[in-house]
Amino acid sequence: MKKALLRQAFFYILPCLFLINASVLRCFFELYCRCRRKGHLYSVTPPSHEEIMTVPVLDPAAWAEKLQSLPRAGAQNVTAFYEHRMGAICTDVRFLLVPLDDHMVHRGDAIFESLTFLEGRIVQLDAHLARMKKSAEWLELEPPCSWEEMRSIILDVARVGAAPFGGIKILLGRGEGGLGVDPKECPHSSLYIVATQASPRPEAFWQKGITAARSAIPAKQEWIAQIKSTNYMANALMAKEAREKGVSVTFAFDERGFLAEAAIANVAMVDRQGQLLMPEFRYALPGTTALRAAELAKTFMPVLLTDITEEILEQAAEILVLGTTCECVAVTHYNGKPVGDGRPGPIADRLRHLLHDALVTGGVPFLE
Ligand SMILES: Cc1ncc(COP(=O)(O)O)c(C=O)c1O
Repeated sequence: MKKALLRQAFFYILPCLFLINASVLRCFFELYCRCRRKGHLYSVTPPSHEEIMTVPVLDPAAWAEKLQSLPRAGAQNVTAFYEHRMGAICTDVRFLLVPLDDHMVHRGDAIFESLTFLEGRIVQLDAHLARMKKSAEWLELEPPCSWEEMRSIILDVARVGAAPFGGIKILLGRGEGGLGVDPKECPHSSLYIVATQASPRPEAFWQKGITAARSAIPAKQEWIAQIKSTNYMANALMAKEAREKGVSVTFAFDERGFLAEAAIANVAMVDRQGQLLMPEFRYALPGTTALRAAELAKTFMPVLLTDITEEILEQAAEILVLGTTCECVAVTHYNGKPVGDGRPGPIADRLRHLLHDALVTGGVPFLE
């Protein structure tokens, strides 16, 4: 009996115990190897930070030095800028920086305006400031200076930039205040004013006209469409979409199916009765250019703010795109089909010249 038990232990139980021990040992060995690979285990001295870290840590002086040597795409066009924290203007683009903890950056809690200057005159300065003031009131966003001071700073920045043609960006943000979402975190709003230089568009741009297509991106909701906030994701996607479709611009339609606007411009059309139709500014930003163009057009044709379906748009005699950067340009093809005879029409031409003259003569001079 004893012998039988011993034999059983020898042939069955001992090999089992051996196998169990071997797999436990193997597990420990693998764990050890893994820890060594990850650097959690060390034999004599712990590894230094440098051995573990994948990026260097710079002291403030080295940081500032490196910052100033970093390349900046598009920087060659920046001529001057103002920053509220400094209360001054600078011409070195390496210092054109916004603190990451400004809610403008990480929450899009900010508004902006894009202006142009032509022949040393800032175009529609007061109309842009009036629209910015309205956006600021909606958001209960007080600028860090008075609106009159802001106007003088804009002119100063343009003066220092000294280019006769170019653009001005005004950015009014909620300001620095941690990385949360509540505007309460931010004791002071922020203000940046940047001047850039540009070459004037060649006349051929207007003579040739542009192409357009329907956007797959829906128009913004009514309440936000009328505020020029820095939430321009939909607009950026429309610009990308246009490039990918091989057209100059795309047109967004609102939730009711009516024409809204292009990515950074308003849209109008001339119908077969010779009327200028424009979408109401509900699902579209009230454009300073479109409003000025409507005033000028009223002197020689009926102008109607109305809902425009895509079917009506497709029957247009002319389609016009109106905005600060393009002024008034004709659309020659919509969704691949010619608009009218496929060339810029007479209203586009007339309105464009009237508008351009009005924008330049009404502009605020800054170089004299
Ligand atoms: C969404 C949007 N709609 C329309 C416009 C046209 O406005 P404005 O004529 O003032 O340039 C712009 C231009 O900034 C825009 O961004």
